[in-house]
Amino acid sequence: MVTIVKIAIVADKPVPPWSIRQIMLALEELGASSMYLRPSSITSIIGENNFYVVYSNTLKPFEADAVILRDLGVATTIEIFLRRIDIFKHIEELSIPVINPVNSYMIARDKYLSLLLLSKAGIPIPKTAIVEDFYSATKLAESWRKVVVKPLIGSMGFGIIRAESADTVYNVARTLSQLHQPIYIQEYIEKPGRDIRVLIIGDEIVAAYYRVQQNIENWKTNVAQGARVDIIEKLDSELESLAFKILKILNLYYAGIDVAETKNGYVVFEVNASPQWRGIQRATGINPAKKLAKHVISLIRQ
Ligand SMILES: Nc1ncnc2c1ncn2[C@@H]1O[C@H](COP(=O)(O)OP(=O)(O)O)[C@@H](O)[C@H]1O
Ligand SMILES: [Mg+2]
Repeated sequence: MVTIVKIAIVADKPVPPWSIRQIMLALEELGASSMYLRPSSITSIIGENNFYVVYSNTLKPFEADAVILRDLGVATTIEIFLRRIDIFKHIEELSIPVINPVNSYMIARDKYLSLLLLSKAGIPIPKTAIVEDFYSATKLAESWRKVVVKPLIGSMGFGIIRAESADTVYNVARTLSQLHQPIYIQEYIEKPGRDIRVLIIGDEIVAAYYRVQQNIENWKTNVAQGARVDIIEKLDSELESLAFKILKILNLYYAGIDVAETKNGYVVFEVNASPQWRGIQRATGINPAKKLAKHVISLIRQ
């Protein structure tokens, strides 16, 4: 009898986003079945002698050989957020692989914690601070001169502000504190109108490309901010080994790594544990969803 591998893909959107639909198609091509779930539709229970994960609506046992965790959601309370982490920890306790593991996913989402771990392992990162009081933020801005203020959890370049004046930072930081938001502040890194995205899945660099900002007014190089994708045919060995090292430090199965080229060498901006790849797929035809689907299946069969 042929057993069909079942993969659950989790994100918080009411309908599966494009990248997830690509993964579902790729899994289907490989003969695996997939289901799209939101975190709220999974319930975990600790019983007398056992513990279970069930579907919330039917309380039937959760049936998946692996889970692809794409998005836990952020617009929620701390209690709901903890519950969501609990579910995936519980699933991991059942020896069902979660890709990326929930701990690693959380660390990568937290831009500060991920840079802290990278820095400790000797990976170059920009000077970065996380503060709550706006006076400290202003003091840092005075000392670093040109800075960016980013959402601690964010993506696609949204909400990142560059400031050259400590007064601008004072105003931004004060508003953030009033909204009970931490202030994630970083020195501005001079880069040549582009950065590098390395997409790595398992033991393969699936794609590496320059994200070239064509609008000289815009210093952000996300594809979502209008950057063009220019493929790098052969990644230099330094960046290649940096990417593999990062994957290992953060215990990720796959990641998108953003890197700046500076006069002092490479500097890492952030690591995405749930990267998007629409831009690269459109520009080159490379299909990361296929690689990810294969990798996930290989993890089940180990
Ligand atoms: N410290 C910085 N110095 C210069 N440019 C930056 C800095 N931080 C971010 N950027 C630019 O903004 C983009 C988005 O920043 P990033 O930290 O990757 O957040 P996001 O999760 O929104 O992509 C980067 O790709 C880069 O072009
Ligand atoms: Mg980024």
